[in-house]
Amino acid sequence: MRGVILAGGLGTRLHPMTRVTNKHLLPVYDRPMIYYPIQQLVSAGIEEILLVTGGNNAGDFLRLLGNGKAFGLKDIHYAYQEGEGGIADALGLAEHFAAGEPICVILGDNVFEESIRPAVEAYREPGSGAMILLKEVDDPERFGVAELGAGGSVTGIVEKPTEPATSLAVTGCYLYDPRVFDIIDGLDPSERGELEITDVNNRYIEWGEMRHHMLTGWWTDAGTVPSLHRASRLVAEAGDNPVLRQPSDD
Ligand code: G1P
Repeated sequence: MRGVILAGGLGTRLHPMTRVTNKHLLPVYDRPMIYYPIQQLVSAGIEEILLVTGGNNAGDFLRLLGNGKAFGLKDIHYAYQEGEGGIADALGLAEHFAAGEPICVILGDNVFEESIRPAVEAYREPGSGAMILLKEVDDPERFGVAELGAGGSVTGIVEKPTEPATSLAVTGCYLYDPRVFDIIDGLDPSERGELEITDVNNRYIEWGEMRHHMLTGWWTDAGTVPSLHRASRLVAEAGDNPVLRQPSDD
């Protein structure tokens, strides 16, 4: 399985810090935010990664990450997203890289305490359809929120609902089979003019091909000032956690 990290966007919720750099290059405790999703994919045994970014600072990722060897990667590829088409638009750029195989996608501003490896392993059986990772949170209205049916399966996802039906946030880690690219091709932009990952996930739910994995450790995004601060604090307090540790030769 190959990994895709989405690290584009304008990061407007972090102005003025993101006026001169990409959000994912800002520090979370002792290293750039982008290190965390890379280390997550490595912890799941994924050795080939595509990083999708955009804007004026794309070259800084190459300077920072090089060929990815410091993380134990076989290869790191880069793609450039023109404009601000949204998460699903950015993912569409991964079609050739995926080469007809399932992919594990992580949003570059998500930090997970536990390894995603168990979810990736569960997905591999049978390795088709989609899987989302859910986490109970205090502020579900900030995220995509999962609704569960009587049998415990996900019956729908609502993006940033004003009255969330559950407290289950859809975190920024997704597993997809190659049909994800056909879904993206058929999407219409949302009211905010973006192709939404929630619309992609709802299509798999309609097909009855969405599974979910419940996270037990902490999870946070780092895309706002309070959540960036929280992410740094959680990492600082995490101690010797292999998923959050620096690459060995850094
Ligand atoms: C995005 C997704 C949302 C998800 C969140 C996780 O939101 O649209 O469904 O819960 O990432 O971090 P954004 O951070 O782009 O507002």
